[in-house]
Amino acid sequence: MNTNETQRQYEYMEKAKGYVKAKSEELGRPLTYCVTTFGCQMNARDSEKLTGILEEIGYVAAEDEKADFVIYNTCTVRENANLRVYGRLGVLHGYKKKNPNMTIALCGCMMQEPEVVEKLKKSYRFVDIIFGTHNIFKFAELIVRNFEEKGMVIDIWKDTQEIVEDLPIERKYSFKSGVNIMFGCNNFCSYCIVPYVRGRERSRNPEDIIAEIKKLVADGVVEVMLLGQNVNSYGKNLENPMTFAQLLQEIEKIEGLERIRFMTSHPKDLSDELIEAMANSKKICKHLHLPLQSGSSQILKVMNRRYDKEKYLALVEKIKKAIPDIGLTTDIIVGFPGETEEDFLETMDVVKKVRYDSAFTFIYSKRTGTPAAAMENQIPEDVVKDRFDRLLKEVQTISQEMTARFEGTVQEVLVEDINDHNADLVTGRMSNNHLVHFPGDASMIGKIVKVHLDECKGFYYIGSIVEE
Ligand code: SAH
Ligand code: SF4
Ligand code: F3S
Repeated sequence: MNTNETQRQYEYMEKAKGYVKAKSEELGRPLTYCVTTFGCQMNARDSEKLTGILEEIGYVAAEDEKADFVIYNTCTVRENANLRVYGRLGVLHGYKKKNPNMTIALCGCMMQEPEVVEKLKKSYRFVDIIFGTHNIFKFAELIVRNFEEKGMVIDIWKDTQEIVEDLPIERKYSFKSGVNIMFGCNNFCSYCIVPYVRGRERSRNPEDIIAEIKKLVADGVVEVMLLGQNVNSYGKNLENPMTFAQLLQEIEKIEGLERIRFMTSHPKDLSDELIEAMANSKKICKHLHLPLQSGSSQILKVMNRRYDKEKYLALVEKIKKAIPDIGLTTDIIVGFPGETEEDFLETMDVVKKVRYDSAFTFIYSKRTGTPAAAMENQIPEDVVKDRFDRLLKEVQTISQEMTARFEGTVQEVLVEDINDHNADLVTGRMSNNHLVHFPGDASMIGKIVKVHLDECKGFYYIGSIVEE
């Protein structure tokens, strides 16, 4: 860990604090901020780090993007994510014309693509600060530079070995938190841009992870989500190597911590040791997100996933046998280059055999620079759309049937929020990740309660609390 760098950044925060204070005195009002997050849970956690720094230096949260400091933490995993950012930047430009004090910052995975930065430099001159995924810890320093310099502040690193710990973090939820256990990815699945924009795999030291979780628990957190692109390869590159299952067992010992989740598990690296650790644990949630991507062994090979249909199905069987109530979820890509109708039917076959509790289905998106983007046999849009619709229908039917399997039972539920549509209800999550809505109030948020699952309503339950 680089403690000098942490120290340096705290000095920048002090400096930034001075600038923010002066500006807000000049304007006679507090300066406001808004952090908008695209993409996955890694980005969500990174955004909590951005928010922590903005709060630390004196910005106040705004209701919306009509704020003095707006930052987009971007995603580029599919083209859609990219297009949304450009679209919304136009809107931000309009706000900036009305508020000359406005600062617009962009960071995250999209910024690691040189073409994106070129385009921003050319056609989006109103953006003030641009940085990437490897130097997010420098946020305070870049804010200071923006106060002191004219023109765009751009700082993108190609890769890094550094892990800078102990900077401010402002959590979105008081009772649950993401915890990075590793950064980057070494797998290079042929369709995926993540290894190019997140760099090589680096694991955090177990002591740092455990210290962070202990601190979180002392601060009221009962559930952690351990984050990594491939948590099953955790610890391989540490000075004292350690497996993911061993890390879980250490985290399990933390008193006051009630639930442990993690994502994502690459099927090729899921060990028997992990299955056993899950089966024997009181805290590890009975949920596994196990991305399939495709059910065709041929496509999986070209995807560079390094498992085949049979190996995946055998793994699922083993998991279900060891942990009968497990909730299984997945990611599936439709329309990968060269996918034939037979390949697609193999995917449908796996879906029918595994019976996922839920599945994220994606239309293949061509990402410049990945091997798959250069493949010749790209699939026509109408064929992909037809397959996507058929898959979605199957996935949803099974998901409803799978959700219903716990109807009538009593389950432990972590209350997360007041229900979006009915303020007399609260929404909570079961260990297997299913959602339950039941009568309750805000005082229950963050508590684990026993709930009777009265009725399954498709993808969720209506329940009632069981008095102890
Ligand atoms: N590390 C995780 C996935 C991270 S990206 C894993 O290996 O499972 C999240 C999901 O986005 C992937 O599981 C994949 O289904 C999807 N995805 C990634 N690249 C994609 C692309 N080019 N087109 C469509 N979907 C993609
Ligand atoms: Fe992308 Fe594959 Fe790495 Fe997941 S494991 S982030 S899909 S390259
Ligand atoms: Fe997107 Fe980056 Fe996550 S590309 S999915 S935000 S790692």
